[in-house]
Amino acid sequence: MSTKIRIPSFPEAKNRRQKVRAAGMNPNYWYPVGYAAELGPGEVTEVTFWGKDFALFRGQDGRLRAIENRCAHRQLKLTTGEVRGCQVVCPYHGWTFDGDGRLVDIPHELFDKKMPNIRLPDFEVRERYGLIWLFPGERERAASVPMPEIPELEGPDAWACVPVDFTWQAHHSMIIDNVSDFTHEYLHRKFEPFKNPTLTSLEVDDDKVFVEYDTEVGAGKLYNRFIPRAAANTSHMRLCYAYPHQWSNTDDWIKHWCFVLPIDERTTRAFFLFYYKQLKIPLLPVAIPRWLMVPILEVANRVLMQPLLEEDGFAVEAEQLGYERHYDAPVAELNPAVMEFQKLTIRKWEEYLAERDAQPRQRRLPVMPSAPHDG
Ligand code: FES
Ligand SMILES: [Fe+2]
Repeated sequence: MSTKIRIPSFPEAKNRRQKVRAAGMNPNYWYPVGYAAELGPGEVTEVTFWGKDFALFRGQDGRLRAIENRCAHRQLKLTTGEVRGCQVVCPYHGWTFDGDGRLVDIPHELFDKKMPNIRLPDFEVRERYGLIWLFPGERERAASVPMPEIPELEGPDAWACVPVDFTWQAHHSMIIDNVSDFTHEYLHRKFEPFKNPTLTSLEVDDDKVFVEYDTEVGAGKLYNRFIPRAAANTSHMRLCYAYPHQWSNTDDWIKHWCFVLPIDERTTRAFFLFYYKQLKIPLLPVAIPRWLMVPILEVANRVLMQPLLEEDGFAVEAEQLGYERHYDAPVAELNPAVMEFQKLTIRKWEEYLAERDAQPRQRRLPVMPSAPHDG
């Protein structure tokens, strides 16, 4: 892009829309950062949360670790290095850090100095539902913040689910607006995932906004063939913005979560997990057996879910560009649900900033050696 964009920052924002489009997400929550199966033992990868980079690596023992992605020596990204055992080694001078961020080895001369006592910040990381989850905030708080719970995806009788994800050039709030706001039925006129929606309920409960729509779920021809209409009531959907993520439920038959990873002000990765109690064989009133659902969902994702969600991706990326050019245009928003989502995002960010600013700066700065190396 040739022109430099200068949209209002959070403190500069003059109205609700400018505030929500500048708001970050509270790092003291769990965020998905990738797929567990895609990071094998001995592998390291970079993940980014709201402009902050993490070196995520799996030791040879199979356990995941996450530390700040910079070598304490000359600030190279540790992800340019390699994993050795359960430690990560910087490629330049070989300084080696363990999963707690501690500098544990310097393989060159120390010039009669003591081994520096350095520790990079480390972060909680877990695996669940095939995803890797990072707690980018304060490590001590991670244990008391619950991860999203999907009981249907656990146990021997788990529902079928094949996640799909996208990285879109759009602010995270645009994606949350999009997935919970059914006024964009028009965008999906080809696939008709929801038809003739009417908002019937809107409820705010602390960190959640609940929304209900009367709508024809999965009305499109392709989708329609897989839905067991005789058993499931597909005329109603309940959705929730359960900060910082979002879910929906259609009569306990079709459910979904949209997990967001805010990468920066205009980049968001969204993981969509749709899961189904049962689907039927097209044209026949016969249920697809559970064991067959995963391969069928893989195909359904390719032919239906991905193209459908790409429509949303097109829309939010276009909205981002529109916002950057016209952030000062008057706000014209009709759906009260959108206003509540935005108010929640803003409130949570304000709460986080107030808490952060009340704390002493950088509680865990790396401790540098008493005799500096240079100077
Ligand atoms: S820059 Fe990393 S070891 Fe020197
Ligand atoms: Fe959509």
